[in-house]
Amino acid sequence: MNGRRIGILTGGGDAPGLNAVIRAVYKAGKQHHLKLIGFRNGFSGVIQRDFMIMDDEVGSGLLHRGGTILGTNNRDNPFKYPVRTEKGIEYKDVSPQIIKTLEEMDVEALIAIGGDGTLSIAKELYELGVPIVGVPKTIDNDLSATDWTFGFQTAVQTATDALDKLHSTAESHHRVMILEVMGRYAGWIALYSGMAGGADIILIPERKWSLDEIIQAIEYRKKLGKSFSMIVVAEGVKLPDGHWVTQDIEEGRSDPIRLGGIGQILAKMIEDTGKTESRSLVLGHLQRGGSPIAYDRILATQYGIKALDLVLDRRYGNVPVMQSGAITSISLKEATSQLKNVPMEHELIQCAKKLGIYIGH
Ligand code: F6P
Repeated sequence: MNGRRIGILTGGGDAPGLNAVIRAVYKAGKQHHLKLIGFRNGFSGVIQRDFMIMDDEVGSGLLHRGGTILGTNNRDNPFKYPVRTEKGIEYKDVSPQIIKTLEEMDVEALIAIGGDGTLSIAKELYELGVPIVGVPKTIDNDLSATDWTFGFQTAVQTATDALDKLHSTAESHHRVMILEVMGRYAGWIALYSGMAGGADIILIPERKWSLDEIIQAIEYRKKLGKSFSMIVVAEGVKLPDGHWVTQDIEEGRSDPIRLGGIGQILAKMIEDTGKTESRSLVLGHLQRGGSPIAYDRILATQYGIKALDLVLDRRYGNVPVMQSGAITSISLKEATSQLKNVPMEHELIQCAKKLGIYIGH
């Protein structure tokens, strides 16, 4: 391989727009005669030297495609990498292998696209001297350093479409329909899709709720002649006893807790009051799949271009972000320092209250 080489990888959960970032880096890099090496399945690809050399065939036609052509991984932390030994799986620090691969393959910089887990790994690698730039990604929109992460708006659109469909069946059967959406410990997807989809009750992890208040809201609607209600609940909403509802605990991931199931429990609680029928739906990974909407394609493209600019300027250890509507960059350290929750008095919460939506307390 001749010419300057840049590596790229996607880590953590996928999000609509990942391919749009890869395309932007490829196309803009081509203008500078850069060769782009796509490492497969996150940091694993660098550790195991599993890669593809991007060309026009793979580097174009990507803008609208969901998922990531490079594959991804959320169990590949090079500082705690699962290695099969005689004793079973052991977690070892294989970060020197990353440095070795990049040096031996003559890759001058690495672009790591991922959420807080991937960006935290990138920060540690940077501190070890790896020339690395991050790109923030998550459908949860929970990174404090940036106004928006790509994939979020697409997830909100998917949840909104689901609410539109659930509306008619809720109305026909005079039921309470509950849509459980993703978002981990933040309520952004629930808040935005709840507002866009006309939910009557929105539950987010940032605010407490009580069954009595929910029933009151449902009964009040009945008095107004509305025999059905729509609820959006974020997967990270806790039960009244203060516990999360979890599907599983999976070691080896940056966040081992797999949330899910609050919607079904809530439906049962509502039905047990004997006042109304209730059904729930977990929207799940539909929120991560499919084609990114226009906003996410553009944001992903802007992040890709900015990431390449950072590499060209050798400003390693940084991440493109959007702040007050403008694309800029901050350090990986700042990018990973804090998760972004919905502020208690966020303007959409105010709007929800003024519309009579129950949004907890
Ligand atoms: O962080 C993105 C996200 O989709 C969360 O909203 C969700 O809690 C989690 O990932 C699910 O992860 P997995 O697909 O690995 O189960």
